[in-house]
Amino acid sequence: MKLSMPNRILFTIVFTVIIASIAMAQSTVNIQVQGANPKTVISRHIYGHFSEHLGRCIYDGFWVKDSANIPKKDRIRLDIVAALKKIQIPNLRWPGGCFADEYHWRDGIGVRDQRPKMVNTNWGNVTEDNSFGTHEFLELCSLLNCEPYITGNVGSGTIEEMSKWVEYLNFDGMSPMSQIRKQNGREKPWQVHFWGVGNESWGCGGNMTADYYADQYKRYAGFTKDYPGARLMKIASGANSGDYNWTETMMKKVDPWMMWGLTLHYYTVPKDWGNKGSATSFDESEYFTTMKKCLVMEELVSKHSTIMDHYDPNKKVALVVDEWGIWTNVEPGTNPGFLFQQNSLRDALVAATTLNIFNNHADRVRVANLAQTINVLQALILTEGNKMLLTPTYHVFDLFKAHQDAKLLPVQFVSPDFKNGNEKIPALNMSASIDSNAVVHMTIVNLDPNNAIKIRTALQTIKWTKVEGQILTSPKITDINSFDKPDFIKPKIFEGATKQGDELVLTLPAQSVIMLTIK
Ligand code: AHR
Repeated sequence: MKLSMPNRILFTIVFTVIIASIAMAQSTVNIQVQGANPKTVISRHIYGHFSEHLGRCIYDGFWVKDSANIPKKDRIRLDIVAALKKIQIPNLRWPGGCFADEYHWRDGIGVRDQRPKMVNTNWGNVTEDNSFGTHEFLELCSLLNCEPYITGNVGSGTIEEMSKWVEYLNFDGMSPMSQIRKQNGREKPWQVHFWGVGNESWGCGGNMTADYYADQYKRYAGFTKDYPGARLMKIASGANSGDYNWTETMMKKVDPWMMWGLTLHYYTVPKDWGNKGSATSFDESEYFTTMKKCLVMEELVSKHSTIMDHYDPNKKVALVVDEWGIWTNVEPGTNPGFLFQQNSLRDALVAATTLNIFNNHADRVRVANLAQTINVLQALILTEGNKMLLTPTYHVFDLFKAHQDAKLLPVQFVSPDFKNGNEKIPALNMSASIDSNAVVHMTIVNLDPNNAIKIRTALQTIKWTKVEGQILTSPKITDINSFDKPDFIKPKIFEGATKQGDELVLTLPAQSVIMLTIK
């Protein structure tokens, strides 16, 4: 059939409009944000961190030599303190990890150069001089203005040892432990609340069965006492990833009044435990697999929560994800026992995706701790002598801090796929909250490294006039911040979000995290 010129033009216009509207329909995601009656508070403690006596996290991380020419208080690096205060670090977990179950707290108090030394058998068999102990950790927390989260030794310690540590920390009256504390220079108790009863008791913390640990938990927890002004929030060692039997057993055998929280540990390992994969050198397919494994956190949190709901429908017991993050091979040439890894844009997307999952499950997840703060695993900060840099992961915590203690706004949307061969995962994830000044924050992640995502958002019942944004992205998914280019990846102003009628409209670039402030 031959068309005349005017008809040909008309046909072309109609065809283009149809194709464009199909493309719009396919690629524009409609997000419903439920603004009415928000109830669940996103606990700030979801944004917690973890510092183990491992590699260069404490020693040559937080705690440097007297001779180091860096601003410090005692031996605590103040540039690191300032960086962590900026992201409002809410709590810090210490002294482990596996280290906790071979740590004897009395070795870490008193005159420093007279403290006994020990071998850190879990992490490189290095000599631990115990110069960083209870007083030093609590001084660090006070500088950071964060809550201490201390894990006691169940695996190789005694009930008496744990119970006396709590007395030393928290008792204000006259007692043998409070006397020693005062002799060591601390008059008033610290009032520590978060208290871990062992770590990974199914593994490095004693290789126990769930049944055996549940009984041990009740003995250890029963003799760690609440002192006036210092109610302990006792946290039981929980499941390794998808060990649902562990959660079931603990919930069945331990009453909620005895257990403030139950932990879950899950690491995103790009390849497998034998060869975890490089932190900096990976292709798109390995990136896809990494993000697929990161998203397993959604399934784990949902399934463990369902088991907990069965025994504890009022959600008294918190799910405490006190170890999470990406775990890769160490940087070439570094001590394999020190777990030092670089940190790329991929890590930032892992962090943002996981924090969105935690926010959306804030009814049950009330504490979480990224492993680990400095120079170990998915670190926020890397140091080299006097230098330090903020990783892409650090910047995610900076963007997401707006959610701390805000109320969760549930969201609904259908995500486009991020495809790799025959496999696919949701490209889009997000969470939203409203703070006490009625300001809404949204953190939106596009995992797809090749395609932008168009978004239209209806903020039901929320009145707003203005939107501002920040974006974290980089040309390559493998991009990092190095000591030569410490600011290569950092948040930038995002001006692509606009108000169209009552809707918020934006295009989310590929491989990016956006934080929107809506008021
Ligand atoms: O974070 C490193 C180690 O991983 C911790 O010590 C242990 O609890 C876990 O297996």
